Amino acid sequence: MTSVVVIGSVNLDIVAVADRLPAPGETVTGADLARYPGGKGANQALAVARLGADVCLLACVGTDAAADEALALLRAGGVDLAGCVAVDEIATGVALISVAKSGENQIVVAPGANRALSPERLVIPAADALICQLEVPVETIAHAAANFDGFFCVNLAPARHVDVTVLQRADLVVVNETEAAWYGDSLAACHGMIATTFGAAGVVLQKNGVDLARTKPPRVQVVDTTAAGDTFTAALAVALVEGQSPEDALNFACAAGAAATTKAGAQPSLPTRAEVLQLLQEAASEG
Ligand code: RIB
Repeated sequence: MTSVVVIGSVNLDIVAVADRLPAPGETVTGADLARYPGGKGANQALAVARLGADVCLLACVGTDAAADEALALLRAGGVDLAGCVAVDEIATGVALISVAKSGENQIVVAPGANRALSPERLVIPAADALICQLEVPVETIAHAAANFDGFFCVNLAPARHVDVTVLQRADLVVVNETEAAWYGDSLAACHGMIATTFGAAGVVLQKNGVDLARTKPPRVQVVDTTAAGDTFTAALAVALVEGQSPEDALNFACAAGAAATTKAGAQPSLPTRAEVLQLLQEAASEG
């Protein structure tokens, strides 16, 4: 079975679903409130587990009640949490999320304990792949890049300056179009694969500026786009490590990301492998 280490954030998502997102300075009322386990690292770890791989998550939470709530679905989903450290006197990360009826969202994160995931806390086990993102200290990501031997995937979200060694080490970089614009020419330091997502418009997988594959996600009824990028990242890394061709891997990852938009919340929306394969089959039969 494919084995994956995820290094990243754990958040409790506090979500308000409203008719539309507010403009700066505007108040939108009439929303419904919900709480879901989230955090890009945790979402990617659970996505990997639901796709059928072995996964452990290296992360930090607080010792507060929010930690239990944030870790509940990871526990239920079989993610190995032995490397998830509970840190005293610091709150578990919280994300304040507004979701519009169209499925679009806005997210503000209070990282809390995620800031405590220092390189010294990391004991990275051997695995086929390591996946990380940028909601934890960037020094920790640079340390992971230098101290892991397998397939190294970094999702450059949210966009922040990272050491060039991270880009040089990456076998796979995942960015959305906003992040791609933010990083600009600095992405040229990566000689591995770069997947750039454009929402419903599709995704391109490139290496050294040359297209390896392009595809569009299957059409679905969008409820909430939260964690679609996390699901895409996890699925693409897993599929490539399994040895799928760039084209098959990209189709698989796009279908996984699309499936995650059909349900509310971050972790409740992450699809199983069977659900992804069914969506791919339906899309193929629709032509
Ligand atoms: O990528 C989605 C995630 O971003 C949410 O679950 C939220 O916690 C933020 O980290």
